[in-house]
Amino acid sequence: MKKLFGKLVAVALVVTMMCGLVACGSKEDTKKEDNKKLDKIVLGTSADYPPFEFIILDENKKQQYVGIDVSMAQKIADDKGVKLEVANMNFDSLIAALQKGEVDMVIAAMEKDGTREKVVDFSDPYYTDLPPMMLVKADKKDTYKDAKSLAGKTIAAQTGTTKADIVSDSFKDSKLLALTSVNDIVNSLAYDKCDAAILDGAVAQQYAQENDDMVIAEIELGKAAPYRVAVQKGDPKGILKDINKSIKNAVDNKLVDQWIEDANAKADKAVE
Ligand code: ARG
Repeated sequence: MKKLFGKLVAVALVVTMMCGLVACGSKEDTKKEDNKKLDKIVLGTSADYPPFEFIILDENKKQQYVGIDVSMAQKIADDKGVKLEVANMNFDSLIAALQKGEVDMVIAAMEKDGTREKVVDFSDPYYTDLPPMMLVKADKKDTYKDAKSLAGKTIAAQTGTTKADIVSDSFKDSKLLALTSVNDIVNSLAYDKCDAAILDGAVAQQYAQENDDMVIAEIELGKAAPYRVAVQKGDPKGILKDINKSIKNAVDNKLVDQWIEDANAKADKAVE
């Protein structure tokens, strides 16, 4: 028995050594080497999207990035033991910034779609929002009930988002007002520069809650697609595996639920 055990240990040792040797020359390992050199991770986001990413002022009136996606990014950085830096920009600049390597990852309530998938790589999902919703003026709730009632009307959506695609695809007789900032979209609705706005569900609800004269219209706009972290195509920085590990850990341990609560508690303090 003792002998057999000894043999087994010897075999195990050889196997481990072989694995070590193989891993040494593999692409995986070179990636890991690069990975170690990262001393910070730069998050690209578009902080106009409470409760996912938005700006609040701390006690010293300093701008602070908060929200579910920022918490996700912070966990990814913490798990890697590096600092998190936030680069805030328009949503439609995010993919280009990632391609140029100006940011290491994008977390911005971003869904995977065919066009994006050709130019970036996506992580596993970390959260699925409520279905998309349409924001309208409260006194128009009974008027705008379907695509027909919005014929000839203007519907605003954020440039480069899947919500702008909904306007083009499902409201062919309406005009799309594509704006780069969600705050501008909500202002346009407030000043009747558009008749409706399409946003992701939780975001539309957040703005409806903050603006007494705005409500969610009774129009079905399709299903929600899960949000994912985007990295450079081919993952040259070798960070996607760790990102997926952090996501799994956050989902399994219900951290995301905690972040949602935190973000909702702060969302009415969003500035800009
Ligand atoms: N979920 C939508 C998309 O993937 C919109 C995301 C907009 N995000 C933002 N931070 N403004 O296209």
